[in-house]
Amino acid sequence: MLQGKSILLGVTGGIAAYKAAALCSKLKQEGAEVHVIMTASATQFISELTFQTLSRQPVYTDTFDERDPSAVSHIDLADHADLVLVAPATANVIAKMAHGLADDMLTTTLLATTAPVMVAPAMNVHMYVHPAVVHNMDILRSRGVRFIEPEEGLLACGYTGKGRLAGPEHIVEYVKRWFAEGGGEPALPPAGAADQGSARPGLLQGKRVLVTAGGTIERIDPVRYITNDSSGKMGFAVAEAARDMGACVTLIAGQTQSVPPEGVELIRVETALDMRNAVMARYEDTDIVVKTAAVADYRPVHRAAHKLKKTGERLVIELERNPDILQELGEKKKNQLLIGFAAETEQLEQYALDKLARKNLDYIVANDVSRTDAGFGSDRNEVHIYSKNGLVERIPLTAKSEVARRLLQIAAQAIAAGGEPPSMPDEVQSLEP
Ligand code: PMT
Repeated sequence: MLQGKSILLGVTGGIAAYKAAALCSKLKQEGAEVHVIMTASATQFISELTFQTLSRQPVYTDTFDERDPSAVSHIDLADHADLVLVAPATANVIAKMAHGLADDMLTTTLLATTAPVMVAPAMNVHMYVHPAVVHNMDILRSRGVRFIEPEEGLLACGYTGKGRLAGPEHIVEYVKRWFAEGGGEPALPPAGAADQGSARPGLLQGKRVLVTAGGTIERIDPVRYITNDSSGKMGFAVAEAARDMGACVTLIAGQTQSVPPEGVELIRVETALDMRNAVMARYEDTDIVVKTAAVADYRPVHRAAHKLKKTGERLVIELERNPDILQELGEKKKNQLLIGFAAETEQLEQYALDKLARKNLDYIVANDVSRTDAGFGSDRNEVHIYSKNGLVERIPLTAKSEVARRLLQIAAQAIAAGGEPPSMPDEVQSLEP
């Protein structure tokens, strides 16, 4: 699968560096040419000789150790990679990448490369959820860097939790699947470019995908409003996955705390009415709509022009119904593939199937939003995807990027099959994280 592919493996200084030896070996066995750059800290955990022996290539650790006068090593390595894979990636290297630091051979090469970059983090569980690390990973995601999630389990530091480097087999599978799906094709044009659809072949090449994300906000007065906990992560992951599959993506985002992906048309909206207008204006020309946004069902009847003053013991705010955007899309549907999300806290299947039928959807993605490790705000989700034929797929708890990728694969298959959703399988499919 990896025959003819040149992979630049960046190994950084954590205890998981020893696993990078197995990773290097497996990539070689799959036919890849592997070049290794180690940080100085990585050499404290494992020797250069190990990687030199496994990769059959010289190993680089020092930007100034130029062995060939006819080439500049970090530029040469940067230019010839089909993929740069940083595994394990420490919190430190992730921070440097996010902020463009280039103080060693690896980070200098990462700045110089135009190749796609994948990062497999490994660190202590508390470091992994530290706001600084989370923010840095969000910055990198927004630039198109892909993350291979660490595993949960007993960590070398003695803690149990998330932070263990993904297994070498898992990383190799991820890389193989990415190449198989058209990864490594020419990079996307900058955000806002007229025809993003022609930039990269893929499952959704030439398709126009409209994604809504985040929560709408409904103002009570100039400083107060009604909203919900949507962070935008799920919708952003869908937009990013659609972009990576070659689609021309429009992302209509309400209030979010996350960094939106680049290479998509981004439209910011505030209220449900704004979102409705933005969606309707583009619906005609759209092939797939994914409505991940959490839209407020009601808005205040009156929006005060000035900040409300405290008056009596009670304040009653009268609300009126917002339009149901998805229902309107369902009523006006021609050839579009319509995918809704159902945020439920009980009777997941029953409520989801009711929404699917009522809103005339092709698919509905049900998630349990009473959980703290999935749904609102989390980087992960667990979903059930239904069509009118019933359950299509159950995706166990995994990264939202994986949920998005699988959902769009199903959508692409349905389009290829003329819009027909698959029949309910005898044995329900599930995607292992
Ligand atoms: O943003 P994150 O923090 O990553 O969280 C992701 C999520 C939990 C918000 C997402 O996975 C999700 O479930 N989104 C749908 C939230 C929602 O509004 O669900 P609902 O069951 O109330 O609505 C069903 C569908 O109708 C949704 O596709 C919604 O976009 C749409 N809708 C709802 C009301 C309305 N007035 N107009 C709509 O279009």
